[in-house]
Amino acid sequence: MSDSAIAVARKNLESTGWLDLDVDPTLDLEAEIQKLKKEKNAIILAHYYQESEIQDIADYIGDSLGLSQKAASTEADIIVFAGVHFMAETAKMLSPHKKVLLPDLKAGCSLADSCPPHLFRAFKAKHPDAVVVSYINCTAELKTLTDICCTSTNSVAIIESIPEDKKIIFAPDRNLGAYLKKKTGRDLILWNGTCMVHEIFSHEKITKIMVRHPEAKLIAHPECEEALLEKAHFIGSTSGLLRYTQEDEAETFIVATEVGIIHQMELASPNKTFIPAPPNNMCACNECPHMKRNTMEKLYLCMKHEEPEIILPEWVIEQGVKSIDRMMEISEAAGLGLKNDEDPD
Ligand code: 13P
Ligand code: SF4
Repeated sequence: MSDSAIAVARKNLESTGWLDLDVDPTLDLEAEIQKLKKEKNAIILAHYYQESEIQDIADYIGDSLGLSQKAASTEADIIVFAGVHFMAETAKMLSPHKKVLLPDLKAGCSLADSCPPHLFRAFKAKHPDAVVVSYINCTAELKTLTDICCTSTNSVAIIESIPEDKKIIFAPDRNLGAYLKKKTGRDLILWNGTCMVHEIFSHEKITKIMVRHPEAKLIAHPECEEALLEKAHFIGSTSGLLRYTQEDEAETFIVATEVGIIHQMELASPNKTFIPAPPNNMCACNECPHMKRNTMEKLYLCMKHEEPEIILPEWVIEQGVKSIDRMMEISEAAGLGLKNDEDPD
């Protein structure tokens, strides 16, 4: 890259994170990150959609519920969140006195962005007697307008915990919402948001793969469109899909969620075959561009310099955390998420 291109790239990123180019290419990043972890009493939490090198160095890898539970219970002084912005915000809300770092502040989420709080406030005002359930994939401010958060692991239990005579608004994912309507029989009022990764799977290409591999099972995340979910042999959160591939007798799986999860599937079942479900573009697999903004280089730099740090206004933490606490209580009562013996601390 030319000097001027580097200058432009640096300018674009200067307020949001780090450039991989800022790192000495001869550094042993893994060793340096391990050293920083010890020196600073830091914990690295990584979502299943992170690149495999980051998953391999993390202290805990999990889905949104497990990551939240881990963020709430850790004794570390610094939480380094290898995930996206709303996940790091959730960690900050659960552990407000800890330093929470995100390797690249631009690691956002199309689903969270699809529900701006000022528009949602007006939507909510039209249904003043409804309970608001928001998927955790939303901004911290949206959580202040929410009664109970949910993740894909506990969403059915959360909806079922609400008395039958209550109206429910569900935001922001219309696909997960439609799935929940079907699964629980409740008439949810849906916000019209989607995840840019899960809505672009190619039904045509997936059908061709199913024809070529009639023995394979199609497994899908509930953020996928209804027509795709109808074809799936199993629907579940990332941790649910991972568990299914370990427990089911099938040897080949077509995986309709972000491709990063396949790393853990292959580690857990080395003799099984995992085919990433292709999107409707030129790519063979479906990557979340936000999740993939984090790199080993940025992880190292953010731990070294202790920034970018997630900072939230106090009122947002105070008002927003109630919806996450309620979710945690219902999950615990339903026995969902991290068990004590899975806690690596
Ligand atoms: P889960 O890992 O909780 O299933 O969430 C998937 C997702 O889209 C995270 O951004
Ligand atoms: Fe957001 Fe979708 Fe990426 Fe998850 S996969 S972070 S929901 S854009």
